[in-house]
Amino acid sequence: MIDHTLPLLAQGYAWLPDLTRRRGPGPVRTRLLGKPAIALRGPDAVAFFYDEDHVRRRSALPEPVLSTLFGKGAVHTLDGEAHRARKALFVSLLQDAAGVAALARRVAQEWERSAKEWGDRSEVVFFDEVSVLLTRAVCGWAGIPLDDREARRTAEDLIAMVDGFATAGPRHWLARRARNRQEERIARLIEQARSEPGGPDDALHAVAAHRDADGERLDPRTAAVEVLNVIRPTVAVTWFAVFGAHALHRHPELRARLAGEDGGYGEDGAGGDYARAFAHEVRRFYPFAPFVAGLAPQDVHWQGETIAEGTLVLLDLYGQNHDPELWPRPYVFDPERFVGREPGRDELVPQGGGDAAADHRCPGEDVVLAALSTLLPRLARLGYEVPEQDLRIPLHRMPTRPRSGFVISGVR
Ligand code: HEM
Repeated sequence: MIDHTLPLLAQGYAWLPDLTRRRGPGPVRTRLLGKPAIALRGPDAVAFFYDEDHVRRRSALPEPVLSTLFGKGAVHTLDGEAHRARKALFVSLLQDAAGVAALARRVAQEWERSAKEWGDRSEVVFFDEVSVLLTRAVCGWAGIPLDDREARRTAEDLIAMVDGFATAGPRHWLARRARNRQEERIARLIEQARSEPGGPDDALHAVAAHRDADGERLDPRTAAVEVLNVIRPTVAVTWFAVFGAHALHRHPELRARLAGEDGGYGEDGAGGDYARAFAHEVRRFYPFAPFVAGLAPQDVHWQGETIAEGTLVLLDLYGQNHDPELWPRPYVFDPERFVGREPGRDELVPQGGGDAAADHRCPGEDVVLAALSTLLPRLARLGYEVPEQDLRIPLHRMPTRPRSGFVISGVR
């Protein structure tokens, strides 16, 4: 079978759906990164994939992805007890309702401050502006000092790390340099935090104090990797915020209802119902994380198929979020799907499936929903125009976004 690494890089989000369409129903076999691979989707496949007897993460992620997106030694690459002990750190930081609400309040404050400035400019690129405001919010929350110049520079680095992970071109080298710069800076902050005991109760100090399954503290560089695994993906909510802006532009009839939500994110962790439904639909509809992958540690069996030891097993997140078996009219943007109804655990999987505490599922879903429930109603209430621009979202680019970055003008 021919290797599909190049078609994946060339076709991006369209690669796996295309292959699935051509091959017909059932799991799709292919080759990726020189290994035999199989792609699965659907709630049963999620349960299969997140069982460690079936799929392991160690050595599944290629070096170029670690050196840009996740960092070496990251929680993403651990299995078993080592994973559970490290994951507990993220769960305690990110699934604490008061902590998430505090972060959402910072997002709201930074929005107010930025939106005032937008009014003084003839036009702004929404993508760039949201990345800076989220950087200020999450760094303030996590205990990372930033002045205004550093905020813009840090936002550029955090965005670059995500933007450059799936390409071999200049964006990739930018991403590597950005990661090195930020790891070095944050490793110094970790050492400083350790030298001054009794510091504040924030993410930086929690990571500095964390002990792994072996009872040891993380070396400063790995600690920096994990601090970045909190702040980088929070800033990556920029992609979804811009997709939300795109959805509002395409569906002006949804604006009034979203604007009517107070957009508050209370201590109890509850966002407005429609804002939350809208955020779920943005996460379902728009392409961001394409799939997750791991290796079969032994011969395993999936619906009558043998998956040989060493096979790369892909869980097709984007495909599952557009599977007509699960989502009637999957290519229609419709927040109604989620009004008064939370999706099942293994049904909506933009950030992975399974259990966030025990498995590799993203621990940041509450943060994403809180940030979007804060940002999008405020955007819906903002007065602005959308001048002529290229709003196409190319599926071959990974990660993708509206080409223009979503320019708005006449903000009031
Ligand atoms: C911006 C939108 C986001 C998307 C699309 C996203 C997506 C994902 C995906 C697909 C995974 C892998 C799941 C797996 O391997 O099975 C993941 C893992 C992870 N995410 Fe997110 N995520 C987002 C936001 C966040 C946020 C806001 C945070 C933290 C504040 C976060 C922290 C993490 C961490 C630490 C992991 C590793 C979990 C583990 O390996 O156990 N993510 N995310």
